[in-house]
Amino acid sequence: MKQTLKVLIYPDPMLKKKALPVENIGSSEIDLIRKMVKTMYVEGGVGLAAPQVGALKRILIASPEAKPGGEIVLINPIILKTSGEHVGPEGCLSLPGISGDVRRAKKIEYAYLDIEGKQQEKQATDFLARIIQHELDHLDGKLLIDRVDFDQRQEILSTYQRL
Ligand code: NI
Repeated sequence: MKQTLKVLIYPDPMLKKKALPVENIGSSEIDLIRKMVKTMYVEGGVGLAAPQVGALKRILIASPEAKPGGEIVLINPIILKTSGEHVGPEGCLSLPGISGDVRRAKKIEYAYLDIEGKQQEKQATDFLARIIQHELDHLDGKLLIDRVDFDQRQEILSTYQRL
């Protein structure tokens, strides 16, 4: 059985769709998460959202150090509070070869269900906060190109078409 999943690439229409809350963390969700983790490391990413592998479920994973075993899994994540701002470069497995400068909150407080279905509340700053905000955008059908200014978007899209 295949252990990794195909990452959908922009402009795949699936990437524009809003993912639905997970009602039940069953064997198909656990299997999906396991494969997402494997896929993220194989593709060299630091985060991955379920819609990127064709599953419209509100699940994201993040691994700021890109170190297997260091990943966090967030189910039905929501941001409770944000503070500060930081503009920094981001890439995306669904936009290979592209980098854009995106404004994000520097610090976030967030809630989610863990893999056992327990409600959790945590804080993140800097890179992890950025990854979570980026992946949460995927759950709402948004990509980093929807977060950059008009000029940068035009530049990114023309570069992307040339790749
Ligand atoms: Ni992405």
